[in-house]
Amino acid sequence: MTVADGWPTAARASAAARVDDGAPPPVLHPLLAARWSPTTFDPSYEVTTADVDAILEAARWAPSAGNSQPWAFITGRRADPLHARLTRHLTGSSAAWAPSASLLVANLCHRYVEGTDWEYSEFAHYDLGQAVAHMTFQAQALGLHARQFRAFDRAPLAAEFTVPQHWEITTMSAFGRLSPGLANIPEPAATEPRPPRHRRSTREIRWAAGDSISRD
Ligand SMILES: Cc1cc2nc3c(=O)[nH]c(=O)nc-3n(C[C@H](O)[C@H](O)[C@H](O)COP(=O)(O)O)c2cc1C
Repeated sequence: MTVADGWPTAARASAAARVDDGAPPPVLHPLLAARWSPTTFDPSYEVTTADVDAILEAARWAPSAGNSQPWAFITGRRADPLHARLTRHLTGSSAAWAPSASLLVANLCHRYVEGTDWEYSEFAHYDLGQAVAHMTFQAQALGLHARQFRAFDRAPLAAEFTVPQHWEITTMSAFGRLSPGLANIPEPAATEPRPPRHRRSTREIRWAAGDSISRD
C-alpha cells in the first residue's frame, strides 16, 4: 500500500489534479493535499485557547530573513470581544462568511522603521506570508481549516487596534471546523460552497534555463 492509498478521497483527488503528461501524481503530504480554503465554517464550533496558542507558536517558529520576525497577530475567538471588534471591519463577501469562523486573526507586517520610510526588511511581506502558511498547516493538524483574506477595511481596523504607521495589517485569516454538511461533501462540487480548484501545471511553473514563461 502506498501512502496515497491511505489518504482520504479528497486528498487523492487533489493529488490527481496535479498530474502532468500522464505521469503518476506526486505524493503530497496529506496535510498539504487536504488543505483548501472554505467560506463556510461550523458556526457553533469553538476553538480552545490551547489551539490559538499552538497556531501562534507555529508562526513564532517560522523562518524569516535575518531572523527579523516581522510579524504580529491580533487573535479573536468567537467568544471574545476581540472577535466582534475584528468582525466589525470585514467587507465584501468576507462580511458574510468570516463571522462563522471560530477564530479570526489579523496578520500584521512590520513594514517600516518607526518614524521613517525605510523598509524594516526587504522580505517583511514574504516572511509574514510564510508565518501565516505555518499557522495554516498547524491549524490543519488540529483538525481546522483556514481561509486567508484581504476583504476588510484596513485603515479603520488599524485605528481600532492602535496599529502604528510603521506596521500594516496585511491580511486576515479565518480558522474553524468545516460545517458538518460541508465536511460530508467528499469531492469538490460544481458550485459553492465547495467549488473545484484550479492550478497551473507543474510544467508551467517550472522555469528551466533559457525558457520564457507564457502566461494568460
Ligand atoms: C493574500 C491572500 C488574499 C486573499 N483574499 C481573499 C479575499 O479577500 N476573499 C476571499 O474570499 N478569499 C481570499 N483569499 C483566498 C484565495 O482566494 C484562495 O486561497 C485561492 O482561491 C486558492 O484556493 P485554496 O486556498 O482553496 O487552494 C486570499 C488568499 C490569500 C493568500
